[in-house]
Amino acid sequence: MRIAVLGATGLVGRTMLGLLEDCAWVDGPPLALASPRSGGQRLPWRGTELVCAAVTERSFEGIDLALFSAGGATSRQWAPVAAAGAVVIDNSSAWRQDPRIPLVVPEINGQLVDGLRAGIVANPNCSTIQVAQAMAPLERAWGLDEVHVTTFQAVSGAGQKAVAELNRQNAGEAPSGSVFPRPIAHNVIPAIGAAVGDGAYDEEEKVLRELRKILGRDESLKVTCTAVRVPVLNAHSAAVRAVCARPVTPGEAAAALAAWPGVEVAPGPHDYATPREMDGRRTVHVGRLRQDPNDARALLCWVVADNLLKGAAWNAVQIAERLATGARR
Ligand SMILES: NC(=O)c1ccc[n+]([C@@H]2O[C@H](COP(=O)([O-])OP(=O)(O)OC[C@H]3O[C@@H](n4cnc5c(N)ncnc54)[C@H](OP(=O)(O)O)[C@@H]3O)[C@@H](O)[C@H]2O)c1
Repeated sequence: MRIAVLGATGLVGRTMLGLLEDCAWVDGPPLALASPRSGGQRLPWRGTELVCAAVTERSFEGIDLALFSAGGATSRQWAPVAAAGAVVIDNSSAWRQDPRIPLVVPEINGQLVDGLRAGIVANPNCSTIQVAQAMAPLERAWGLDEVHVTTFQAVSGAGQKAVAELNRQNAGEAPSGSVFPRPIAHNVIPAIGAAVGDGAYDEEEKVLRELRKILGRDESLKVTCTAVRVPVLNAHSAAVRAVCARPVTPGEAAAALAAWPGVEVAPGPHDYATPREMDGRRTVHVGRLRQDPNDARALLCWVVADNLLKGAAWNAVQIAERLATGARR
């Protein structure tokens, strides 16, 4: 199977290459692609190096699987070219709401890619993946009526320029930068992405729309989200209130969550993980799981995951592995 990685020099692309290095089903070295700025750049691969090339019309000839993490505009330009003969797994938001394109978290709806030989598969938004993993077991066992989310999102979610901006501000070199609308060091910013209608920002709209699509629900599932950028280097957190269709206790929910692949549950309601602890891990951690004292159908919890791994690269590599081997992980 011949693999290409577009966006290989970025935070997600480098993380995907690191994961692919360890996959037994990956034999030859992937084709590393990025913009013309990165042509000739060398990237580590299994003790040797890949030489990055600028993406062109001919890049995808002979490619079976193309992992994209190069932004929406790049994806809109190149995914249809690559998808003529390969399966494209795309990390951008370009195709996620297209009804013809599956939006996949393998543990929840991985069967949607089975048998696919060419076409586009969308990887969901990083915050949405971790919330979806925490909500899917509740949806399956009790049905969900409402999900209310407040995110606490790391700067790595906005790419390598964002990480550099936080590091510069932390070092006192620059009070502000070009990635975030206000200084991010020693601050929190309740605005991620572009402002959209009704007072929301588009990161919040992504969580609403993508959570419903992944869970196979329509607007009968009420979802709200406030997305907040925090001065954390890596791993997103989310405070979630879930209202089920039927009464559920925290103990019952913890058992359902612990049985779900890719989810870890803290032992008690005062236990939790932090972003530092989840940095570098592939699972989604659910902590502070407790009853909403106002409603026997409602639970509160704290959900943390590495946005570069389960929120992006690992989810994409899990999809790739399912396509390549038919295996479930
Ligand atoms: N970071 C996350 O946690 C996360 C999570 C989920 C989804 N995503 C999505 O994944 C994508 C990449 O994110 P990132 O954090 O890795 O960003 P990043 O660190 O800024 O990397 C961007 C990558 O895209 C490449 N690129 C940019 N413009 C290009 C063009 N015109 N043609 C070809 N390649 C181009 C860059 O290549 P050069 O080095 O040549 O500029 C670089 O490899 C984005 O769509 C993002 O929304 C990110």
